[in-house]
Amino acid sequence: MRKIVIAGNWKMNKTLQEAEAFVQEISDKVPADSQVESIICSPFPFLPSLVEKAKETNVKIAAQTMHESENGAYTGEVSPVMLEDIGITHVIVGHSERREYFAETDESVNRKVHAAFSHGLTPIVCVGETLEQREANKTMDHIESQVKKALKDVREDQVEETIIAYEPIWAIGTGKTASSEDANEVCAHIRQVVKAQFSEAAAEKIVIQYGGSVKPANIKELLAQPDIDGALVGGASLEADSFLQLVEAGRR
Ligand code: 13P
Repeated sequence: MRKIVIAGNWKMNKTLQEAEAFVQEISDKVPADSQVESIICSPFPFLPSLVEKAKETNVKIAAQTMHESENGAYTGEVSPVMLEDIGITHVIVGHSERREYFAETDESVNRKVHAAFSHGLTPIVCVGETLEQREANKTMDHIESQVKKALKDVREDQVEETIIAYEPIWAIGTGKTASSEDANEVCAHIRQVVKAQFSEAAAEKIVIQYGGSVKPANIKELLAQPDIDGALVGGASLEADSFLQLVEAGRR
């Protein structure tokens, strides 16, 4: 059975003190036996301190993006080498906000997926359609194309370790959630794409999350769907209490 992965994406929120207090609180409360993996995707400046706080707990600390190169003249960027060096385990790649505001493309997402694996980082690869694409019935084709390009030339054993987050852009931060059936339909399609491109074993192992206005009130219904293995959560991950409820919902 696939594990459930609940990841909180804080985006550009919190101060160091708030971030530390949050991780301290959830570290004490996330159950040690957990069948659920709990990940906090924090802004860069807090990462070393949060890694330290989360040591020997069930909480993992992730970055929200990274550059694809190991080092070089890229002012303001952070490399996979740096993330690996400070003990980061996961990194979000290709979030729709990065694609929209920071010019990430399917090709750079693919390079980042390769870079992540070269440095022992698990990529959380985001895909999702716009409202326009959904209304034009282009969702499945668009998602298929994003997934195929993101996983181009990735080894099968790495695909098995990859996390894909299906985040319909129209559902992010809008309070509109895809119905659990619609979300599952797309997640099931992603699994089919992985099966066709790699193998049935890889399709069975890959973790596929849903993201977009997930909150304690709707997560159970989403996780009850057969192809949804977790959630990537923005707004509802900012309060420890709410995040813990999401984690609790993932225990079965
Ligand atoms: P919200 O949960 O705030 O809609 O954000 C979703 C998201 O973008 C997580 O990466």
